[in-house]
Amino acid sequence: MLKLGIIGTNIITDQMLDAAKTSGHYELTAVYSRTEERAKEFGEPYGATQFFDNLERFFDEGDFDVVYIASPNSTHYLQVRLAIENDKFIILEKPALVNPEEFSQIESLLQAHPKARLVEAARHIHTGLFHEGQKQLAKMDHVQGANFTVRKYSSRYDKVLAGEKPYPNIFTPEFAGGALQDLGVYGVYASVTLFGAPNSVVYFPTMVASGVDGLGTALLTYDNFTVTLNIGKTANSHLVSEVYGLRDTLVFDSIFDTKQVTYFDEKQTAHDLPAKYYENSMVDELNDFAALFENPDDEAQLARYKEWFDLARTVNGVMFNLRESADLMFPADSNRIQ
Ligand SMILES: NC(=O)c1ccc[n+]([C@@H]2O[C@H](COP(=O)([O-])OP(=O)(O)OC[C@H]3O[C@@H](n4cnc5c(N)ncnc54)[C@H](OP(=O)(O)O)[C@@H]3O)[C@@H](O)[C@H]2O)c1
Repeated sequence: MLKLGIIGTNIITDQMLDAAKTSGHYELTAVYSRTEERAKEFGEPYGATQFFDNLERFFDEGDFDVVYIASPNSTHYLQVRLAIENDKFIILEKPALVNPEEFSQIESLLQAHPKARLVEAARHIHTGLFHEGQKQLAKMDHVQGANFTVRKYSSRYDKVLAGEKPYPNIFTPEFAGGALQDLGVYGVYASVTLFGAPNSVVYFPTMVASGVDGLGTALLTYDNFTVTLNIGKTANSHLVSEVYGLRDTLVFDSIFDTKQVTYFDEKQTAHDLPAKYYENSMVDELNDFAALFENPDDEAQLARYKEWFDLARTVNGVMFNLRESADLMFPADSNRIQ
């Protein structure tokens, strides 16, 4: 059983712990929160026994192998540094790091700490359904582009609309928030996983009062086609996500919370791809990560790790290029880019 420590005590950590229970590979031992009271309140119901309000002590004294980091985006970098320096296995929530400078510094640190492992929690690309979609795509003779939609109203936007400050972290540049960072990353991940790194990218954001993009459209251009991402946290979309063949089409009911993938063949006959899904879509990634952490030097696991890490690096670069194209900069960019 992998001993687990956590940073961040909001809803996504509850979901992760529920998935960890289903996976059966993890037991929660240690919780870091900005207050010890909150660490206890959150961690005790899950059986944790160690509680910290100091990050250095959490890493020095906490009894855990794996740390799950689900804190605001701009705080990831320093927390990951500490985790690597303590040779931990790290599951870092998406988007892992804010820009390529942060990424390359973390990559160098990992090289100096060969026992540490860092994976990004891009849950959707670990599901059986996504893999089935990938296999089907490989059989399609022509690909003429894709349209991925990741647009879902966030109840946290109510506060921005009401002008209630402080605005939620995810709607602020200080915490490297916004629709592209929060939901667009799922579309970028899907595109990079299915088609590789794009040749060029451009993002057309709609800004909101708190200084970030609330909604937007991104275009990722490849040799022979373009992928369009419809992104947003200030509106709900009911569109499916599609990859266009010639007469055939591959349809994901949702690209980030996939429950059904359907292949419409050349005669427009629908074939539902067979994989089962977990109601909690974090289970597959946690199973994948446990297989790596339980055998961190196994050749096959290292090959998968490299694949995930390369993907994370490409996604990080594409996200940054998209932001640059729209002049969307964060304080973390000037802090860390020399
Ligand atoms: N995979 C997914 O489906 C999914 C879904 C949602 C979010 N996420 C990712 O998970 C991460 C956290 O998202 P979230 O919406 O939960 O963020 P959040 O609510 O803004 O913050 C998460 C936790 O970080 C701590 N925190 C809050 N404000 C902080 C601050 N100013 N400085 C340092 N720590 C602070 C809090 O824990 P304490 O009070 O205990 O310190 C809080 O519970 C993000 O990277 C996000 O992209 C992933």
